Parts: sequence; structure tokens; C-alpha cells
Amino acid sequence: AFITGGGIGINLGIARNFAAVGANLGILGRSQDKLDTAAAELRALGARVSTHSADVRDYAAVETAMRRCGEELGLVQTLVCGAAGNFPLAAEQLSPNGFKSVIDIDLLGSFHACRAAFEQLKQTQGNIIFISAGQAFMPYAFQAHVGAAKAGIDNMMRNLALEWGRFGIRCNSIAPGPIEGTEGMRRLAPGGLTDQLRRLIPLGRLGTPDDIGQLSVFLASPLATYITGTLIVAD
Ligand code: COA
Repeated sequence: AFITGGGIGINLGIARNFAAVGANLGILGRSQDKLDTAAAELRALGARVSTHSADVRDYAAVETAMRRCGEELGLVQTLVCGAAGNFPLAAEQLSPNGFKSVIDIDLLGSFHACRAAFEQLKQTQGNIIFISAGQAFMPYAFQAHVGAAKAGIDNMMRNLALEWGRFGIRCNSIAPGPIEGTEGMRRLAPGGLTDQLRRLIPLGRLGTPDDIGQLSVFLASPLATYITGTLIVAD
């Protein structure tokens, strides 16, 4: 499995769950320090791990990472497009460049990873999992940039499911609810907001990175061979 943004948070939780079922892992992120810490944790679970310090906005760097990962660990069978950027800001205060940064990281970065992984996924008849968000289908205050990026990802997911189905490649999105301990939650629900949020959630708790990791393993597994073009909400 190759996971963009795999050094922390939900994406590291996904990596942990893939390691638990015997996968080897390529993880890509901007900070080599975070990747090294994550790799040590994943190796302790028995995985072989390659780390790739790169920005998903840089196609050449993503392409190089994907090729090197394939050489080191074998062809990619599952791609997880998890790298994302977010900061809450009122639309009238958001600069065009701030809007563009989130679109570039989330949407363009996801396309970069898919495009770079295509030849490997074609050979493995692999699958792609996109990490979306509720902002893609419901308006949230101060999230115009994020909602646009995530809605774009889900639309691209359906188009790739349509176009790449003939190669045996499945594509699906997961929209996680609030996941505890993540950078996203620190940015979006600081302080006491988390307790208010918990009271609104029928299950009475926030999600964990493992909740999303387990769903990801399911979607990548032989249990899900006829599921493609679908968005699954786990909230
Ligand atoms: N409030 C307002 N504007 C902001 C901002 C904030 N908190 N953070 C960045 N911006 C704007 C900048 O002002 C800049 O626009 P400008 O040139 O008009 O001033 C633009 O966004 C790009 O800023 P920059 O710092 O160069 O962005 P970056 O590309 O290095 O970082 C971000 C990308 C902005 C998404 C940053 O928050 C990030 O790196 N996030 C990664 C981690 C993350 O968000 N995780 C949560 C995932 S849910």
C-alpha cells in the first residue's frame, strides 16, 4: 500500500491497519522526521516500509516516489490519497492563494498520486481509496476551500472508477467524521468544542484513526471486490 500523508493522523492509522494484515507500506509526506517516526512504528508491526519525503503538489516528486516504492517493495496494490491541508477561515478573508493551496494539496495532489500509480495499479488490478470529508456534501462555516477540494476529489473518484474499471482498478472514497487526536481536529474543533461535538454524536464518542484504518483495509480486501465508485461515510 502507498499512502500519501502517511506520517501522521488518520493516514498513519490506515497504515497501521494495513501493516496488521501483512502489507508493506510506502508512506509519503513533507516531513522526513514524521515519516521516520511512523516508519519505526510500522516496522515494529512487521511491515517493510519505504519513506518518501515529497510534496503531493510536485508531480515529478510523486512520480519518482511511486517508482522507487514499486522497486523497493513490489508493485502498489492499494493507493490511499490521504494528504490534505486545512485551516478554518471565512470566505471573505480567504486569499485566492489560500484557496488554491488547499485545492492543490487535496485535489491536484490526489490526481498526481493516481496518475503516478496508474501503471502499477493496472498490473496489480489494484484499488484507490480517497480520504474525503463531510464538507464535500454539506456546507460548513469557514470551509469553502475544503468543501470544494473534497467534492472535487469525490467527483474524480467516480470518474476514475468509470474510466479505470476496465483495468480492474476500483476507486472509493471514505468520509470520516471527527477523528480524535488528529491535526484536523486540532484546527477545526479546538478546546471545549470537542466535548460539545461528542454530545452530538449518536455513538457518544469521536472516531479513531483505527476506525478509518479498518474500513480502508476492508475496501482494499477481497471482501470488497464489487465495490467501486462509492463514498462511504464513517462518522
Ligand atoms: N489563515 C489564513 N490564510 C492562510 C492560513 C491561515 N491559517 N494558512 C495559510 N494561509 C494562506 C497564506 O496566507 C497563503 O496565501 P497568501 O499568499 O495570499 O498570503 C496561502 O494560504 C498559502 O500559504 P502557505 O503557508 O504558503 O501554505 P503552504 O502551502 O505551505 O501550506 C496549508 C498549506 C496552508 C494548507 C497549511 O495549513 C498546511 O501545510 N497544512 C498541512 C497540515 C494540515 O492542514 N492538516 C490538516 C488536514 S485536515
